[in-house]
Amino acid sequence: MLKHQQQFLSKIATNEGHGENSAFFDGWKAYDMNPYHPSKNPNGVIQMGLAENQLSFDLIQEWVKNNPRASVCTADGSDEFKDIAIFQDYHGLPEFRNAVARFMEKVRGNRVRFDADRIVMSGGATGAQETLAFCLADPGDAFLVPTPYYPGNDRDLTWRTRIRLVPVVCESSNNFKITRTALETAYQKAQESNIKIKGLLLNNPSNPLGTALDRESLTDSLHFTMEKKIHLICDEIYSATVFRQPGFISIAEIVQEDTASCNLDLIHIVYSLSKDLGFPGFRVGIIYSYNDMVTDCARKMSSFGLVSTQTQHLIGSMLSDDAFVGRFLKESSKRLGTRHGLLCGKLAKVGITSLKGNSGLFCWMDLRRLLKAQTFEAEMELWSVIINEVKINVSPGASFHCSEPGWFRVCFANMDDETMIVAMNRILEFVIQSKGMEAKNTRKQFWGSKLEISLSSRRLDAFFMSPHRMSPHSPMASPLVRART
Ligand SMILES: Cc1ncc(COP(=O)(O)O)c(C=O)c1O
Repeated sequence: MLKHQQQFLSKIATNEGHGENSAFFDGWKAYDMNPYHPSKNPNGVIQMGLAENQLSFDLIQEWVKNNPRASVCTADGSDEFKDIAIFQDYHGLPEFRNAVARFMEKVRGNRVRFDADRIVMSGGATGAQETLAFCLADPGDAFLVPTPYYPGNDRDLTWRTRIRLVPVVCESSNNFKITRTALETAYQKAQESNIKIKGLLLNNPSNPLGTALDRESLTDSLHFTMEKKIHLICDEIYSATVFRQPGFISIAEIVQEDTASCNLDLIHIVYSLSKDLGFPGFRVGIIYSYNDMVTDCARKMSSFGLVSTQTQHLIGSMLSDDAFVGRFLKESSKRLGTRHGLLCGKLAKVGITSLKGNSGLFCWMDLRRLLKAQTFEAEMELWSVIINEVKINVSPGASFHCSEPGWFRVCFANMDDETMIVAMNRILEFVIQSKGMEAKNTRKQFWGSKLEISLSSRRLDAFFMSPHRMSPHSPMASPLVRART
C-alpha cells in the first residue's frame, strides 16, 4: 500500500518523519488498547508515559468558576463575544501578550524582562519549534541536541522542515551534564560529514531528565554557540515545574548578565503553557526571539498555527490575576515536589535509583541492573515486560536517544493519588520479583494494607516464551492526536 502510494504522494506524506514507529508511541498504543480504571479495568495498563501536569487542576477550576467574565461563552462574558470572535490579528490580543510576558517574568523570579511585542504565538511548543526551524535553517542543515532528548523533537524540528538533528552525547557518569567537550565532539563530527550546523537546541529543564541546567552548562553552551556563530534555542517549556533547589536559570538571565559577549540575534526561547499550567489542549505556544527579523518572520508564519482568540482572552484574564498566579505557582511546585519525592523514595527502598531531579513531571529511572545484558535489545525486552506484564507504560531511554541502555522515564503528575499507589505497587512487586526477593514480606512494610498487586508470579524468562505478548510495533491506530509528550 505504501509503495503504491509513494508514486502519488509527497516524500513527507510517505516517509517515517512523524516518528510514530517507536517504542515511545507503542507504549501509548498498549495503554489505549487496555487502559486502567480502578473499578472497570483494574488490571489495565497505567499510563506513566504522559508528561501531563494534572496535580493542580482544582486551583484552575476554582479560578474559572470565580471569573465567569474570562469566558466569552458565559452570561457574564458574552458582551465581548463578538469582538473576540472577529479578532484575527496575528499579533494577538494585547492583554494576552502582556499577560504571557509578565507570567514568563514571574516564573523566572522577576529577574528578567520580556518585551510583550516580541511574544509570537504558535500551536504549542510543537509549532514554535518548527517555526523556528523554518526561520533558522534550510533543508539539510542541522541543529545539535544533547541526549537524552524529547522524542517529539525528531518530528517537530525535522519532518516538514527537512533539517536534521545531530546528537550531543551526554552520559550518566556526570549525570548527563552538557560539557564543552561533548559539544565540540558533535560539532566536529558533523563538520567531517559535511553537515552544516546552524544551532544548538537546549531543553531546560530537561525532558526526560527532570533536571534544570546549571549556570556553567548554560554559560558554556552560550559561549560555544557564540564562538561557532550558530543559534542557541532554549526550550523552557518546563520552567515552572521546578520543585527543589537548585532552581531554574533561564537563558534570558545568562544573556542579560553577559550582553557584551553575546550576539542577541542568535538567541531564541521556546515556551508553552502545556506543562507549567497543564493546558496542552489549548495549544498555547510562544516563540520569543531577540532577533527582529526572526520575530517578524515567525509572526507571519504564525498564521499557520494561531492560538484562538477565545483561548487568548481566557489566558489573558487568568495570567493577569497576580494573586492567583502567585498562589498557583507555589502550590503547583509544592505538589510536584511531593509526588516526585514519593515516587523516588519508594523506588529507592527497593534499590532502584533515579537521577536526582529538581523539575519536570517525571523521573529518570535507572534499571540498568535489571537488564539481561547492557544492550538496547535487552532494554526493549525489559520494556516489553513492563508494558505487557507489569502493565505500566513507562518510556524506554532509547526513544529519547539515550546513549546508554537501561534508563526509563516515569511520569508522575498525570494521575490521582490512588492510581499512583497502584502504579507504585506494581513497580515494587516487579522489582522485588525480578531481584528474586520475597515479595510477601517486603511489600507490607511499604504500603501497609492498601495493596493491590496484580502481577502474576511468572518470572521474566518465562514471560519471554509467551506467544501472547504484544509486538513492540503493534499496528494500532495513531495515538498522536494526544501524544505530544
Ligand atoms: C521538551 C518538550 N518540548 C516541546 C513539547 C511540545 O509541547 P506542546 O504541547 O506545547 O506542543 C513537549 C511536550 O511534551 C516537550 O516535552
